[in-house]
Amino acid sequence: MPSEKKIHVALVGLGFGAEFIPIYLHHPNVSALTICDIDPDVLAQWGGKYEVERRADSLDEILGADDIDAVHLVTPLALHVEQTLAVLEAGKHCACTVPMAMSIEDLKAIVAAQRRSQKNYMMMETSVYSREFLFARQLVEEGVIGKIQFLRGAHYQDDEGWPDYWKGLPPFWYGTHAISPLLAIAETRAEKVHCFGTGTMREELVRQYGNPYPMETAIFKLEGADVAAEATRSLFHLAREYQESFNVYGEKGVYEWAQVGGERPVLFTITPLEEMKWRGRPTTAKRLEPPDYADRLPEPIRRFTRRGVYDESTPHLSFLQGGGHGGSHPHLVNEFVRSIVEERAPYIDAVTAANWVAAGVCAHESAVKGGELVEVPRFD
Ligand SMILES: NC(=O)c1ccc[n+]([C@@H]2O[C@H](COP(=O)([O-])OP(=O)(O)OC[C@H]3O[C@@H](n4cnc5c(N)ncnc54)[C@H](O)[C@@H]3O)[C@@H](O)[C@H]2O)c1
Repeated sequence: MPSEKKIHVALVGLGFGAEFIPIYLHHPNVSALTICDIDPDVLAQWGGKYEVERRADSLDEILGADDIDAVHLVTPLALHVEQTLAVLEAGKHCACTVPMAMSIEDLKAIVAAQRRSQKNYMMMETSVYSREFLFARQLVEEGVIGKIQFLRGAHYQDDEGWPDYWKGLPPFWYGTHAISPLLAIAETRAEKVHCFGTGTMREELVRQYGNPYPMETAIFKLEGADVAAEATRSLFHLAREYQESFNVYGEKGVYEWAQVGGERPVLFTITPLEEMKWRGRPTTAKRLEPPDYADRLPEPIRRFTRRGVYDESTPHLSFLQGGGHGGSHPHLVNEFVRSIVEERAPYIDAVTAANWVAAGVCAHESAVKGGELVEVPRFD
């Protein structure tokens, strides 16, 4: 029997964050939603559209409200650490959009704050709840892929014209969409990394973060596995607007995410050794339709795996570019809320999130050191 306990959630930052409003409003374990943005027009726009009465114009107002149990942060990158720490220290559960932080020190501070608070922390990583990822994991679990031999992920995004804080960001400081699926499917952490920066970036973009690389490419050694994983991330000066992808290379099957948005992933399978006739074994390639996995969700939020929250007159860029992030949003909300009412850790808890994010932070450090080996610290 699912728990009937209900919680009051506050959603902070209503750019991309607005996509989560109707999902919280319909989740059966959410009794009330407060929305928050420092921009009064944004607050009025979404409050009006979804008829959300409880509105706040600052995080402080939320932290001081005793009836709010949990906070979901969808604010700009540089605010994630101080806001996450403030939420946990106020004794509230915290979900935060990616990335959890952009330095090892800050990752450690959040892991420690979560332990002190005994409240839930969850990083809302969309890629590991996309239908493409859930399908790949099902193929691994069903034995279709066989032993995993190698993993490869990529996230290309053109950040021209995005808010100023994106300008020149080290690509792997926001590497989670390329790296997390690889570590999640291998069920381990990255132990060490070599990474190279690649390409040339115009001077104006180098200034903010002192990062000269529009792209970075890394190879990780995974802990407790004889497998390496490769990831590539771009933010500027590349002729790809937006694409997330990951490939799982197995002994029996290879799963490759489509190159072009809207196409279906490909599964390659190989003729068993016993049936080989001559040199090399023939493979077959099939495009498959990943199922929606909406049946894993409470009925009132199932429809949000497919439908955009934004209508065509106000399309949010992340939704258009991310293709709805593979139907992940209701799964993320459900895991955060259910983990609280069931009094258990969420799937992407503080240590798991820190492991995924640290792999990218260390990759950038390696790139800065000309590709030197960097050990990824442990957080448990
Ligand atoms: N696939 C994904 O997981 C995914 C996709 C898109 C964005 N994101 C993350 O979501 C975050 C927000 O992205 P965005 O594109 O909406 O950014 P944005 O800068 O366009 O919008 C952020 C919103 O937060 C509000 N805001 C700023 N400071 C605030 C504060 N102190 N308190 C309350 N509200 C505040 C702004 O007014 C704005 O409405 C980023 O950190 C980004 O990394 C993740």
